[in-house]
Amino acid sequence: MSNQPRDVDRSLSRTEEADALRILGKMAGRASCREFDGSDIAPHILEEIVRDGVEAPSSCNQQNWHFIIVTDQDRKQRARNISGGNHHFADCAALIYLCFQKGWTHGNFSIVQSVAGACYHMMISAHLRGFQCIWNAGIGDQSQLREMLGLPLAFDVIGALAIGRAKPSAPRVKAPRRPLEEIFSWEKFDRPATACYPVKQADTYPYWEISNDQNPFAEWNPAAWSWDQIADFRGYSVWAKSPLRGVYVSRRQGDAMDVEQALLPALKGDSRIAEIMPWGGTSTMALLQKLPDGACLSVAELSDNNISFIKERLHQEGSVPGRVTFELMQNGRLPYETSTLDLVVLPQVIEHMPNPQAVLDEVNRVLRPGGHLLVSVRNLDSAYGDLWRTTESRAQVPNQGPFTPCSAKVVAAWLSDRFEIEEDIGIGAEATGDAAILRGEARFGGRLYAARCRHMAA
Ligand SMILES: Cc1cc2nc3c(=O)[nH]c(=O)nc-3n(C[C@H](O)[C@H](O)[C@H](O)COP(=O)(O)O)c2cc1C
Repeated sequence: MSNQPRDVDRSLSRTEEADALRILGKMAGRASCREFDGSDIAPHILEEIVRDGVEAPSSCNQQNWHFIIVTDQDRKQRARNISGGNHHFADCAALIYLCFQKGWTHGNFSIVQSVAGACYHMMISAHLRGFQCIWNAGIGDQSQLREMLGLPLAFDVIGALAIGRAKPSAPRVKAPRRPLEEIFSWEKFDRPATACYPVKQADTYPYWEISNDQNPFAEWNPAAWSWDQIADFRGYSVWAKSPLRGVYVSRRQGDAMDVEQALLPALKGDSRIAEIMPWGGTSTMALLQKLPDGACLSVAELSDNNISFIKERLHQEGSVPGRVTFELMQNGRLPYETSTLDLVVLPQVIEHMPNPQAVLDEVNRVLRPGGHLLVSVRNLDSAYGDLWRTTESRAQVPNQGPFTPCSAKVVAAWLSDRFEIEEDIGIGAEATGDAAILRGEARFGGRLYAARCRHMAA
């Protein structure tokens, strides 16, 4: 879209036209920053940014917004702790908390719309002034923030704009945008099916019944999604974070990934390995460290957007350029020739697939005789499975896409129908966090079930 010629109204002079196009071009170059250098911004500039922001329109012109600029280091650190995942809160120069007064013109969230308009205007002001920023809804617990900010009950806080200067090493990549034809239509609604995600059938989808933690309409069953819908969803949402070092390392899985990867078979230096659907590349980084030099690792993902994210992520983590190659996987078909791979790794992904058994057939096809499969899966018959059923699956679908844990015994049967299981274990006795290794019958009750299987020569 940004390469297309742009046009303005004929009422503009040549100079005005050039100015307009230059500013629009600059605005289109804005990208969120999640790695700041910790330097300060002069208070008067921060005030000017707020002054720019309130040039935004507001419903009934009530301007019932309020902005709290936080620059004190201890408070920023506290803000970071309260937010949970937004580490950049501690290193930005300022956080501008976005608040509004309650009890006024709530129809269609008009107050919230007004605050959003002002926030974007502040963002553009900061960007044009040479700073970097990021808009955050992930601010954390309201009551702790209320206490920290001294916010009266009649006001609510809905987000924070972090402004600062990017670290020189921060990724300079922009999150991908959908093709224009997907997100607008003339006169009537029209949108491709791949860009409309499945939700549970309902007559209405009332705003107030949907939150991050409670979404009765969320469709977690990947079989209700097409491969294209899953690809679309995962490919855009991976960019909810920047491809920074250490991003998307799950606190829930703890050391489980290392235990999973300890099942890797002995590999020769020239082995050909494929890792399937690693989404943000966390397992790819860990896997790379365990492969012999010279082994060829290929990553197969569903979307080019994932691939560009993982490439930058590997770069940020210091991986040698060219060490990994990438392939696009379409409609559940593995993008490899028959009988060519020594190892296929499926890291907690078959539960994300519309038809896991068909993909296991694909693994069988692409492995050379005697080649290996390393597979792990979230286990429905476990303390985690109970947690997923009672709590997790009531929330909205996660950014990695919909998934339904599988029963370890069912997966073991799928595997033994196709492969020789060389070793299988359960990982994690608790619902979250631990990485205890479970053997014997207990292996079918761990949070994860993991197996190393061998292709059975015909
Ligand atoms: C309302 C809103 C809330 C957001 N909340 C967060 C957040 O809590 N944490 C975060 O890292 N990014 C957050 N973002 C940033 C988006 O992930 C980001 O804008 C998006 O990936 C597009 O990337 P870009 O800003 O670089 O174009 C938020 C953006 C908006 C508009």
